[in-house]
Amino acid sequence: MDKIVIEGGFPLNGEIAISGAKNSAIKLMAVCLLTDQPIKLTNMPRLRDTRSMAGLLEHLGVQVDAGEGDEMLLNAETLSSTTAPYDLVRKMRASFNVLGPLIARNGSAKVSLPGGCAIGARPVDLHLKAMESFGVKIKLEEGYVIAAANGGLKGAEITFPFISVGATEHALLTAVLAKGETVLNNAAREPEIIDLANCLNAMGAKIFGAGRSQITITGVSKLSGVNHAVVPDRIEAGTYALAAATAGGSVRLTNIRSDHLGSLWPLIAQAGAKVSLDETTVLIERGGGRLKAVDMETQAYPGFPTDLQAQFMAMMCLADGTSIIRENIFENRFMHCPELSRMGADIDVRGREAIVRGVKELKGAPVMATDLRASASLIAAGLAASGETHVGRVYHLDRGFERIEVKLGNCGARIRREKE
Ligand code: UD1
Repeated sequence: MDKIVIEGGFPLNGEIAISGAKNSAIKLMAVCLLTDQPIKLTNMPRLRDTRSMAGLLEHLGVQVDAGEGDEMLLNAETLSSTTAPYDLVRKMRASFNVLGPLIARNGSAKVSLPGGCAIGARPVDLHLKAMESFGVKIKLEEGYVIAAANGGLKGAEITFPFISVGATEHALLTAVLAKGETVLNNAAREPEIIDLANCLNAMGAKIFGAGRSQITITGVSKLSGVNHAVVPDRIEAGTYALAAATAGGSVRLTNIRSDHLGSLWPLIAQAGAKVSLDETTVLIERGGGRLKAVDMETQAYPGFPTDLQAQFMAMMCLADGTSIIRENIFENRFMHCPELSRMGADIDVRGREAIVRGVKELKGAPVMATDLRASASLIAAGLAASGETHVGRVYHLDRGFERIEVKLGNCGARIRREKE
């Protein structure tokens, strides 16, 4: 197993090109199941999660050509299986989203209930309710969802009781080939939803209103192939922006959509870093002097993303004053707090709130990555800390950050990967 070793206390200076969004890429890959024609995705990140999804699609009979560079070709002309086994689905929760497309393509499917990050219960009840609204009969047997739509998929009006990114995407992927009209109320509005809808519409789907709370889909009988560029990764961009503000220095991020992080930039500025934006780049600059404490709470988009909560907390660990950080999306997403405390942070967790009293200095320590985004917060803390930090269980990080040690190393970070 690998670990990342960081010699901290050096500012970051340089430029980082942001990759395509992991969370979009894996759902876009599932799109191939909806057509017998080839799909070409560009601006694809090279990650463990995209490889996991490719492995699952190959198991179903899809030809996957990941080639070199940032392209991926997918061809589901014929499928050899409609069963997604536990061993493949447990690696990544989002792979559960093949259920709807498989039913749309084949009339039935058997998909394992997912595993994924250990950040709270993360059930799939909303996904299953949406499937039932489309006329799918569902049985749960030995950890598997066995689903069939004998009369075909039928459009439905679905009102989500609360916002779910995954369930909204799953409903979209299923409704595009359902008969008649579907209306999704209280839909998620994340940029990844718009990306998915844009891709599906370019294939001939009729989706209206993606990016708003109400999405209307008129089912079509067939979808064609497509050539689609994945939206830039706002979480990767936010992670490096926060790392630059935490460690200090001057970092320009390119290939971003700065409007997708409208909730982050004012908070970084309030914390004391200079933020200079245009549409596709941002420059984060911070010289000497202490950061200032700022409160933050996570919300569904366009609110502050839960996937940047841990990285924001790492920054607040070094701020002057007390910051209250509230996690509204997941009930158990503070597992990075004890690890940050090992580096000298002063954090009290009370239910959904973390009270972070800024300290003057963090000190390098051996720490353990507990989930994908938490690992990034430990790296940011390590960059700002004095001495050496060893981040173990790096496989979490490799799920969602492309060559993080190379990208940070190019900005002067003293960071390396070692065998544990
Ligand atoms: C996606 C993102 C993840 C991000 C999250 C919230 C991907 C691959 N992952 O996850 O990085 O942190 O959105 O922005 O895109 N819930 C239920 N029942 C369900 C579905 C969800 O109770 O059927 C709950 C979850 O436990 C959670 C909340 O709803 O508390 C939001 O989850 P959701 O938006 O669905 O997250 P994901 O799509 O899993």
